[in-house]
Amino acid sequence: MPKDTFYLTTPLYYTQGDPHIGHGYTSIAADVLARFHRVTGDGKVHFLTGTDEHAQKIADAATAIGKTPKQFVDDMLERWKAQWQALDISYDQIIRTTDADHKAAVQSIFARLRESGDIASGKYEGWYCRNDETFWVESKLIDGRCPNPECRRPVEWVSEDAWFFKQSRYRDRLIEHFRANPDWVRPQSAYNEMMAILEGGLEDLCVSRSAVSWGIPIPDEPGSTIYVWFDAICNYITAAGYPHDLARFEHLWPANVHLIGKEIARFHTIIWPAILMALGLPLPHLVFANGWITMGGIKMSKSLGNIVSAAELIERYSVDGVRYLLLSQATYGTDFSISDEQMVRRYNADLANDLGNLVQRTLSMLARYRDGKVPSPSRTSELARGFESARDGASTSLHALDFRGALGWIWGRVAELNLHVERTKPWELAKRGDDRALDDVLYELCEGVRWISALAYPFIPTTSEAIWRALAQDGLPGKFWERELQWAKLAAGTQTNVPPALFPRIEVQDAVS
Ligand code: MSP
Repeated sequence: MPKDTFYLTTPLYYTQGDPHIGHGYTSIAADVLARFHRVTGDGKVHFLTGTDEHAQKIADAATAIGKTPKQFVDDMLERWKAQWQALDISYDQIIRTTDADHKAAVQSIFARLRESGDIASGKYEGWYCRNDETFWVESKLIDGRCPNPECRRPVEWVSEDAWFFKQSRYRDRLIEHFRANPDWVRPQSAYNEMMAILEGGLEDLCVSRSAVSWGIPIPDEPGSTIYVWFDAICNYITAAGYPHDLARFEHLWPANVHLIGKEIARFHTIIWPAILMALGLPLPHLVFANGWITMGGIKMSKSLGNIVSAAELIERYSVDGVRYLLLSQATYGTDFSISDEQMVRRYNADLANDLGNLVQRTLSMLARYRDGKVPSPSRTSELARGFESARDGASTSLHALDFRGALGWIWGRVAELNLHVERTKPWELAKRGDDRALDDVLYELCEGVRWISALAYPFIPTTSEAIWRALAQDGLPGKFWERELQWAKLAAGTQTNVPPALFPRIEVQDAVS
């Protein structure tokens, strides 16, 4: 069976603490992409997300409150699910690294690589950061501490017999793959950084821990567990059925895109493809590393104490408001900061005024002048071409994960329709009794709003559905683009209604800093 499904993934989130909007950002981006592919009909979509539950810091957090690690991760999962639900994340599958199927699959992958000699025994001596679950060479430490600026905790000296993944075997093939596929890691800065690491040489990776009991046991070696990153990174294939359900696996693999944060690019673009090469499996088509949401110039992170929760933001800007504001703020792949002042300003301008008022005034005028019934146009609209370009532009942007670019195309049409109202002044046409011209303008506005609802659906699904229903349309907004996004598809005579305000204005005196 050939691959027939657009398969996309988020990182597996660590569940030692509550999620914040930094985690939500990657999930929102993945969700927009999943919804886009569902409504454009490029085949089936499989959207995988999940939780990374074997980290030592999770076991430590559980012990600290007197729970077993398993009880703890079961409880935490509910909080993560609540965030995904609040942000309208339409995943198809959640994988937990504590799932029995995943554990069995990772053990079988480990055993297989040990048989092929890609995992071999050796002695590990070196520095280990428990918080980051990362081994560091001495030269990288800063004042004897973990060099990750978010962590800087003391590292531990570890000395033990261990298993090593011989990733150095794959260095040349990795470099070849990077050269032959210059777009496979995005953005360019991540590609360059990873290429520089590869060119600098690769050390083998220690993939076992004898002192850690919370993890997947190494086959035939009681007492040792598999390094948590090896365990977690394999999720992308174990969730897809490897190696126990190859029929399912063939529909999904290789993944079309792994969405990740930039701090974990090395795991996804060097270690992970080396593991896949060792297993004789094809590599994912694309790994896209997003930038960080920063607060006061530094990464939003629990350990830095500068987090904002999704719930707080949703309460203020609504879920679609949050999705829009985050993805339109910066080009995907770059860092950006958020502040209430700037978010309120953009919410009021782009959502309350430009989109919200456009829909409101269009449907209110239709109610006032035509009892809410879509009139029949007398001519082809000059607006059609601009909408077709926006559809194609948004589609090209979304295929390239340029979310901001896609929103630029869509909001360009919102601006165009608002301008059209100002230019044509339907209220004057009504006063003059110029019915034919009024019918034409009202039709153009309704049809334009229908297109905007469809185009914006991946970003603001709840709002888009409200608009779509106000226009008495069935199904998902714009499913499928090719069929629905033809100008003048809106049937004359359709009975519309005026929806409640889509994005109520936030009064500036309510703004908090
Ligand atoms: N468990 C590992 C990933 C294993 S994948 C096989 C991990 N988890 S994490 O919870 O620490 O981070 C997961 C992801 O959350 C990051 O890669 C990133 O995508 C996202 N973000 C966390 N904080 C963020 C910001 N402040 N800004 C943007 N994204 C952030 O690493």
